[in-house]
Amino acid sequence: MLAKAVCNELKNEELILTDILELDITNIGAVRSFIHLNKPEYIINCAAYTAVDKAEKEFELARKVNALGPKNLAIVANEESSTLIHISTDYVFSGEKPINEDYTEMEEKLPGTVYGITKLEGEQAILDNCFKYYIFRTAWLYGDGNNFVRTMLGLGKEKEEVNVVADQHGSPTYAVDLAKIIHQVIEKEILYGIYHTTNIGYTTWYDFTKKIFEIAKINCKVNPVTSEEFIRPAKRPKNSKLSKDKILKTGIDIPMYEEAVERYLKKELKLNSIH
Ligand SMILES: NC(=O)c1ccc[n+]([C@@H]2O[C@H](COP(=O)([O-])OP(=O)(O)OC[C@H]3O[C@@H](n4cnc5c(N)ncnc54)[C@H](OP(=O)(O)O)[C@@H]3O)[C@@H](O)[C@H]2O)c1
Repeated sequence: MLAKAVCNELKNEELILTDILELDITNIGAVRSFIHLNKPEYIINCAAYTAVDKAEKEFELARKVNALGPKNLAIVANEESSTLIHISTDYVFSGEKPINEDYTEMEEKLPGTVYGITKLEGEQAILDNCFKYYIFRTAWLYGDGNNFVRTMLGLGKEKEEVNVVADQHGSPTYAVDLAKIIHQVIEKEILYGIYHTTNIGYTTWYDFTKKIFEIAKINCKVNPVTSEEFIRPAKRPKNSKLSKDKILKTGIDIPMYEEAVERYLKKELKLNSIH
């Protein structure tokens, strides 16, 4: 999902695109040949094992893609003096912090899921193996691909009411806006490091759904439910609130989540009315 947005955002730059068929990031030999041949200034890693629930039963595969993959990229980026841009997640935190607080970049990491553990291992592998890196932790991503907003649009049109979790807090993030953040970082050449990069503002899945229905003019009742009523194989963090203070201080511009989802929905609904 993010890869499409990044390709579109950087379409005027000299881009070399790969997918898993062309470059498996878990294969260091393939990564080394590719990077040494192409000598990119930046390597943007949008690849990951993202099936959060399935990961609970596929630890080794998740670890291979989310930890070994970034490690390979970091080693080779360092050899070639390329800058590695990598995407991480709110799942590196426990999500148990009081809801009136948010997470800064340096706070204690305590992932409670296989996905979160392997993504944290990926972050550490980058820190250990290269100097020129950006790690962008994001959350609640939506864009061109299966995502929460599309699911809710579908359910809202089909059903008279939907139950949505109201005790998980975070920032919905439009992939197009994350791609724009990446573009701005490349242009501004801000200090290397870890940054929290979601849209601005916090909400719950419940309030976000009400917002989606309001913008899309969908008449469907939204019932608040608790996480305990909606058990999933991988435990969802109740507090996914990532502080954006550090990235905002660099002068990077980030839209509010309400404005972002309105832009996304306008595009989605226009597309649906054509088909
Ligand atoms: N989605 C979210 O809500 C969310 C939230 C926080 C952070 N993130 C992070 O944001 C980033 C982008 O997420 P996304 O939702 O755009 O992911 P996505 O749509 O699941 O895309 C991940 C891509 O990685 C590819 N891939 C898997 N294994 C690979 C390998 N060994 N070598 C090369 N490519 C491989 C996948 O290919 P196949 O499809 O062929 O397997 C897929 O195209 C990820 O780092 C993710 O952890 C996402």
